[in-house]
Amino acid sequence: MRPGSSDYLSRRSQRIDIGLNNLLPEYPKAIPGDSLFCAMEKKEINGHPHVKYHRPLVSIEELTENAEHFYRKMNLRRTVREFDSRAIPLEVMENIIRTAGTAPSGAHKQPWTFCLIADPGIKKKIREAAEKEERISYSQRMPESWKTDLKPLGTDWKKPFLEEAPYLIVVFKQSYGIKDDEKIQHYYVSESVGIACGFLIAAIHQAGLVTVTHTPSPMNFLSKILGRPENEKPFLLLPVGYAKEESYVPDLERKTLDEILKIY
Ligand SMILES: Cc1cc2nc3c(=O)[nH]c(=O)nc-3n(C[C@H](O)[C@H](O)[C@H](O)COP(=O)(O)O)c2cc1C
Repeated sequence: MRPGSSDYLSRRSQRIDIGLNNLLPEYPKAIPGDSLFCAMEKKEINGHPHVKYHRPLVSIEELTENAEHFYRKMNLRRTVREFDSRAIPLEVMENIIRTAGTAPSGAHKQPWTFCLIADPGIKKKIREAAEKEERISYSQRMPESWKTDLKPLGTDWKKPFLEEAPYLIVVFKQSYGIKDDEKIQHYYVSESVGIACGFLIAAIHQAGLVTVTHTPSPMNFLSKILGRPENEKPFLLLPVGYAKEESYVPDLERKTLDEILKIY
């Protein structure tokens, strides 16, 4: 069934599941390189190959419902700093990272690398190195105003979640690419990798897992521990897993729509 066909649309509107699942067009197995992708209609435009975009045609009612459901789902996302150590199948993590890899990027350079770590020995090394930096940051580097802002969150230099979570994802931004020993120019690297991390965090939440967007500073130790090349710089460190059975998060309020939206 082709996305956009009338069969597809009527099947889709009959689906009653709520949440992100009912936003997904029904070609979840169409991964670049798959035969499904190759079979898509192709056309040359300005000398470059293009594939037909199958627009997911949704009614105004569906648009309204989809947008509201997605907002409600995303509004439940919280940064959780206490993890259950239960194992998560690798396939789940691979699909979460595939989702991050669907992000737009400057000139489609995809300037990111996601390192997935389950090895307890490497997690231990990362925790020790992060805590070493964080201990110095909390005692010497951070101004009082920053520490005051962090007080309601209850954070300190200790990072047990770096060993407790079943997985760590370390996101690297590639300042430039390398192909056949040649340097490749990348554009809008931080913007691109930031957007990919947004997709990543949304995918983690959508799957039913939690994460902490962790930024130990400085974090060059991650390049050394993971043996990453010179063109990659550590960007974010995200432990991923189930939330601990009983965990509490700071009672925060998000800005209202009036505060964040200006309509012109
Ligand atoms: C760029 C960035 C860096 C962050 N760094 C840390 C961090 O190092 N440690 C931590 O515990 N939380 C960190 N956070 C999580 C924020 O504290 C959290 O997102 C914020 O308090 C709002 O809570 P919420 O995510 O539950 O909505 C970071 C978040 C962002 C976006």
